[in-house]
Amino acid sequence: MNEKTEVNMTIGIDKIGFATSQYVLKLQDLAEARGVDPDKYSKGLLLNEISIAPLTEDVVTLAASASNSILTDKEKEEIDMVIVATESGIDQSKAAAVFVHGLLGIQPFARSFEIKEACYGATAALHYAKLHVENSPKSKVLVIASDIAKYGVTAPGEPTQGAGSVAMLITQNPRTMAFNNDNVAQTRDIMDFWRPNYSTTPYVNGLYSTQQYLDSLTTTWDEYKKRFDWTMNDFAAICFHLPYPKLALKGLRKMMDKTLSQEKKDSLQENFDKSILYSQMIGNIYTGSLFLGLLSLLENAENLKAGDKIVLYSYGSGAVSEFFSGELVEGYETYLDKDRLSKLKQRTALSVEDYEKVFFEEVELDESGSAQFAGFENQDYALVEILDHQRRYSKVEK
Ligand code: CAA
Repeated sequence: MNEKTEVNMTIGIDKIGFATSQYVLKLQDLAEARGVDPDKYSKGLLLNEISIAPLTEDVVTLAASASNSILTDKEKEEIDMVIVATESGIDQSKAAAVFVHGLLGIQPFARSFEIKEACYGATAALHYAKLHVENSPKSKVLVIASDIAKYGVTAPGEPTQGAGSVAMLITQNPRTMAFNNDNVAQTRDIMDFWRPNYSTTPYVNGLYSTQQYLDSLTTTWDEYKKRFDWTMNDFAAICFHLPYPKLALKGLRKMMDKTLSQEKKDSLQENFDKSILYSQMIGNIYTGSLFLGLLSLLENAENLKAGDKIVLYSYGSGAVSEFFSGELVEGYETYLDKDRLSKLKQRTALSVEDYEKVFFEEVELDESGSAQFAGFENQDYALVEILDHQRRYSKVEK
């Protein structure tokens, strides 16, 4: 049975961009400091480095920076919706998207809001953006997945922290990847990872969360195959939510069934290896990590071509999971940055001691609820001060 909804319009990702923070922590250094075998991180988790953000870089500045890297002035005049998906938001009321709308100078008659369901949020945002464009074909929607993943010093998740933002422009006749209208989601009310309002770091049932990730993967995948006529042979690559790449590798192995030829398995494995390159240098960026995997695949894979289909597995603790797919369009390489790996190497490395100070520093407000910040000259956008409890952001003039 093929339940794919026929939509007389192609909608998808027109452009995709990324920004991460200015500092990096080498996991070799962290392993030494924690008295752990470095192979546990590099082979056990498949991680090498993690991005570290100071106070002046948050989900708003990273979102603005990722978006600005792909948008023209004309597109800023055309966007009529800005959605920021995040689980590390900076205000319980005002949406990060409103700050981003202001920083980018998007035309005023736009809808801006935040969306949350752990690492799944951006997938829901993409679906809503697609429905909006279906309804209003000239619309352009800016969907941004922006997060800073902080588990705490010596927490089991410490080597899987990270910071980054993926921005995607969703339009009709997209120039990168068209959606296939084949989403299948699953919800389970579980407590595998959560962060109460009173806590700056999450509570994690680590092993349980990995079991839920994998069980949601196999059950949602089975349902997806049941509802549509797809098999693994239809896809050139699979992109996974990447809390750490080793877990996704386990997912890949579960999806490679006996019907696949060795050649197909090798090609899927090769593309998987390309899809984890950025995460291995950045760590978990929660809701953006699936799309960071997609970006890494598109910018580094050597055996992809227009017309190839890519299936994506989204997982957000709590938990919501989803499979959906897209098809690469002619000329999809045009808007990608093939130089990103070398740019990532330009981040400033921190010692473990400095990382502990920089990443976990808390804002100290004076009696009026204000604080001034400095040292943000290398950023594109920065939190420059808090004045009477109001966060003030600015584009950094170079
Ligand atoms: N050499 C090589 N490999 C080694 C090793 C060594 N010296 N020492 C350990 N390993 C391997 C282990 O065998 C293990 O591999 P397998 O999973 O294949 O068995 C791997 O390294 C990790 O070792 P442990 O399981 O002992 O690690 P841990 O218990 O200290 O931490 C974790 C693992 C619980 C997942 C922890 O990283 C964590 O809490 N992470 C945060 C939660 C998380 O990411 N969950 C994922 C699903 S939830 C989700 O997806 C949402 C989200 O983004 C958070």
